[in-house]
Amino acid sequence: MDKLISKLKKFVSVSDQIVAFTGAGFSAESGISTFRGAGGLWSKYDPSIYADINYFNQDPTYYWNFFKDERYPVIKKAKPNDGHYALVKLEKRGKIFRIITQNIDGLHQLAGSSNVIELHGNTRNIFCRKCNKKYSLDEVYTILKKELPPRCSCGGLLKPSTVLFGEPLPQVALDMANISARNCDLFLVLGSSLVVYPAASFPEIAKNNGAKLVIVNIDPTPLDDIADIVINESTSKVLSELI
Ligand code: APR
Repeated sequence: MDKLISKLKKFVSVSDQIVAFTGAGFSAESGISTFRGAGGLWSKYDPSIYADINYFNQDPTYYWNFFKDERYPVIKKAKPNDGHYALVKLEKRGKIFRIITQNIDGLHQLAGSSNVIELHGNTRNIFCRKCNKKYSLDEVYTILKKELPPRCSCGGLLKPSTVLFGEPLPQVALDMANISARNCDLFLVLGSSLVVYPAASFPEIAKNNGAKLVIVNIDPTPLDDIADIVINESTSKVLSELI
């Protein structure tokens, strides 16, 4: 691995437009389960029921039980890990100019990163589908203990800004991710299985526009063969060594 890290260090030293693209593996060491790979959430919960907009519209109790039992407890106590702080350091050195994240935990912002594009929304932003009133994570949890599915004081149903399967991604985030991928000189994939589109298209867009592509992921991914470097190792370990 040392040879790969020193090759990565060289790439970073000659780049100044670096995009970090993070997935659930990046937050795994903050105690938040991944969806796929060892012990992934989707091996316990069927995403077509628990994380699909059509099912949510039919019967939101499945999603809200998943939120209450699985998501709220871990996200509530999750803290940024060494990987998050390493990206903040890289940003301070003028290296990272964008983070594109698939994660909904808000840990990049909590660690101090500023240029974060959230492709799949943020579970901390919960709103009323009727009057658009905003609710915090804790406020919804309090309502959830009394009422399932949770409703707004106006009677409307609550929903996080998390993008569920079958929902379009936020257009502004997509456009910014597109521009960032086309204009970077180094694209770092950090902790993603790269199987969910359109998010997984950005590494290829970057590569096709001349960027170097580095994939740091415990398991192999479908884009490994177009990457310049593949490191099957923990993201926090690799980034800590890089810094
Ligand atoms: N360091 C590096 N990689 C890790 C680590 C770690 N500490 N722990 C797990 N991994 C890897 C796993 O090998 C796996 O390939 O992280 C990857 C996580 O993959 P997924 O769980 O599929 O997460 P992600 O790629 O972000 O999923 C994309 O799918 O369900 C939807 O909306 C959800 O945003 C999510 C999207």
